[in-house]
Amino acid sequence: MYNLSVFVSGRGSNLKSLFQEIYDSDIRIVSVVTSVPDCGAVIFADENNIPVFLVSDKPKEGFVNFDTLTGLLKSQNVNLVVLAGFLKKIPDNFVEAFQNKIINIHPALLPSFGGKGMYGINVHKAVFEKSAQLSGATVHFVDKVYDNGKIIAQKSVDISDVNSPEDIAERVLKIEHELLPFVVKKIAFKKIEIRNNRVYILN
Ligand code: GRF
Repeated sequence: MYNLSVFVSGRGSNLKSLFQEIYDSDIRIVSVVTSVPDCGAVIFADENNIPVFLVSDKPKEGFVNFDTLTGLLKSQNVNLVVLAGFLKKIPDNFVEAFQNKIINIHPALLPSFGGKGMYGINVHKAVFEKSAQLSGATVHFVDKVYDNGKIIAQKSVDISDVNSPEDIAERVLKIEHELLPFVVKKIAFKKIEIRNNRVYILN
């Protein structure tokens, strides 16, 4: 089995699409992690009997810190951590504990429209205000800098005819729901190669 831990903060649409896409494979979601206990993603996890870990960098009843979380995920034999809307910055020692085993999906074509504060509708507003004619989604490795790790895959979408940031968000989310499961499966089935500092996806 290939074990995933998915980190969330919102409605969990990426969690849901990933869960559905890997349902009959040897890939499974062994935990959902969040700092937002009442988010939609937690409801989905509970409905599907996926253990939920609440994490906080400050002492809080019912929450664990990242060091404890590392131990919990190691005890679950997690092979890959998937950030899908997790809003907190991942501490450096957690990144080190899961070196090259953390990926993130970002709702724009990095390195454009990324970095601190660029999440959710903020991203699409920035894309709209620049009158960008293309947007899309990026899946990248997570390192110690926001939205900075090596890019694994991207998919673009034409937004030349949109009338609002919400239109962009809707089109990009559809791409995300395809791109994230695609990349997770490629990693799980060892179809990713890193050569000359670039990431190659094998057929
Ligand atoms: C997605 O747009 C993702 O790109 C961003 O956060 C959002 C999470 O949405 N990082 P959901 O909770 O998966 O619906």
